[in-house]
Amino acid sequence: MSNPLKVALIGANGQLGSDIVSHFAQGDRYQLTALTRTDIDICDANAVDRVLSGRKFDVVINSAAYVRVDDCEQEVERAFNVNAIGALNVARASRDIGALCVYVSTDYVFHGDRQVPYTESDLPDPINVYGTSKLTGEYLVKQTTLRSLILRISSVFGKAGASGKGGNFVETIIKKAKAGDSLKVVDDMFMSPTYTYDVARLLDELLQAGTTGIMHGANAGICSWHELATEILRLANIDHPIESIPTSAFPTKAKRPMNSALVSDRLNPSAAFKMRSWQDALTAYLSEKSYL
Ligand SMILES: NC(=O)c1ccc[n+]([C@@H]2O[C@H](COP(=O)([O-])OP(=O)(O)OC[C@H]3O[C@@H](n4cnc5c(N)ncnc54)[C@H](OP(=O)(O)O)[C@@H]3O)[C@@H](O)[C@H]2O)c1
Repeated sequence: MSNPLKVALIGANGQLGSDIVSHFAQGDRYQLTALTRTDIDICDANAVDRVLSGRKFDVVINSAAYVRVDDCEQEVERAFNVNAIGALNVARASRDIGALCVYVSTDYVFHGDRQVPYTESDLPDPINVYGTSKLTGEYLVKQTTLRSLILRISSVFGKAGASGKGGNFVETIIKKAKAGDSLKVVDDMFMSPTYTYDVARLLDELLQAGTTGIMHGANAGICSWHELATEILRLANIDHPIESIPTSAFPTKAKRPMNSALVSDRLNPSAAFKMRSWQDALTAYLSEKSYL
């Protein structure tokens, strides 16, 4: 049996980070050091060096980000500090200790003006500050270290809820429906809803296989936000109407891609591990949260 991989996880109390912590604790493949913002501020290069240098990590996972997409439009400096300069600081420190640098990125690096899901070989072309800051982070990671894995994920829901967003879409829909609030959800914007626990399982597979480069890690399938909301209430057995509206009727500070669905050209379809459908992932999430 091989030695466990020594992994440093930054952003450990985030929505994805929490699921990486719980999944990587299973079995003996990993020895995980979970780091929150109080342990390490990735915007502070000296602090990043202080925490990582001299430690024998095989892998450093950077799941930290400034994820408030609308606020990023005003707080451009903060978005670039965390999502780009922070990524650079982590990549540099990872390189210096000989560790693989994993940078978690986003479907929002894409423009969204096409009808089919984006693969790893499609050219990014972000349309908002958040997406641009994350793409800059990707470039800085690639330029800094030869050993990186850039894992793009999409429209995530996880049991912890995004700490930066104060929850997730699934919880918001259930809460509003139970409160009897009117629900209006866009039906012309498409994506691949993704359960963060499945991203953690995928990351486990990728690390065990020694995968590097860019990977897309979304649950299988594509739907509109209205379809997702409808499926949430159907599965949770909540009878409440959801009005379909066009994106033009729901203006936001940040433009969002009309289609940001992701698919992977690189995941071997015959491999034992596959990303399940978003419907199966949603069912698992709702069951684990005791909604079913
Ligand atoms: N949420 C989505 O729908 C989505 C979609 C696609 C891609 N992603 C990507 O997935 C990753 C994880 O997102 P998430 O949903 O798990 O977000 P999240 O819950 O907001 O977690 C982000 C984490 O980053 C930490 N953080 C923020 N600024 C930091 C800093 N300067 N130094 C150190 N840590 C810092 C936060 O700590 P505090 O809680 O203390 O602030 C939090 O633990 C991110 O890279 C994001 O860009 C997310």
